[in-house]
Amino acid sequence: MNIKSKVLLLNICVALIFSCKSVNKPYNYKRFPDNYSEIQRDYESYYYLNACHRGETIASIGAGNGIKEIQISCFIEGITWYLQEIDSSRLYQFEEVLTYHENLIGSSINADFNLVLGTENSTGLPHGIFDRVLMLNVFHEIESREGIMREIHQLLNEDGVLIIMERIGKTVGEVHGDCNYPKLMEPNFLQEMNDYGYTLKRKKLGEEISNLMFYTFESIAS
Ligand SMILES: C[S@@+](CC[C@H](N)C(=O)[O-])C[C@H]1O[C@@H](n2cnc3c(N)ncnc32)[C@H](O)[C@@H]1O
Repeated sequence: MNIKSKVLLLNICVALIFSCKSVNKPYNYKRFPDNYSEIQRDYESYYYLNACHRGETIASIGAGNGIKEIQISCFIEGITWYLQEIDSSRLYQFEEVLTYHENLIGSSINADFNLVLGTENSTGLPHGIFDRVLMLNVFHEIESREGIMREIHQLLNEDGVLIIMERIGKTVGEVHGDCNYPKLMEPNFLQEMNDYGYTLKRKKLGEEISNLMFYTFESIAS
């Protein structure tokens, strides 16, 4: 084999190793923690701002592989989760992510998890039962969001709230590093939410450097 062929073969092997790795690795918007204190650090730094409470029934729209919800359940027991996605391949990874975390903390996680496949136009979630609906790093990825955002009014129970976590742009034209979608600008985002019938109840900064914000909305209709 000449040098050129060897280099080509080497390149193919390297490419295969990397492509296999990414196929085998659970879909990872968020790096897997190496130990319990990493989960605790993220929870105490920002995930507590979702204000999830013991015993609540919570939907997470666009939950990906459920890693954030699993991690919240390491601290808050007895949540009934509905993890919703439009991408079934991400929901398929849920069991693996749950097992990973249970092994890491050395005990089973006290929560009920229901996996729900929705469509671009409908969440597929049951109506009227949710104390909290979460959209964690999802809103900016939904291109036609009016239908879903109006449906969320029907999902919430009487006192239910909608939490939206987003990395908000500081200047016009910023994009998200992972998906390349434009970052939301706060005034436009709040106006859009108002147009969909939500009123802002609270907003909190989770992380300064990435301008990670947590917004709590109430349904004006409720
Ligand atoms: C950036 S990821 C965030 C995943 C997860 N919430 C997290 O924070 O790790 C955005 C997710 O939104 C999902 N998504 C996009 N459009 C959606 C829609 N119309 N309804 C539900 N999920 C959607 C994508 O499939 C993707 O998994």
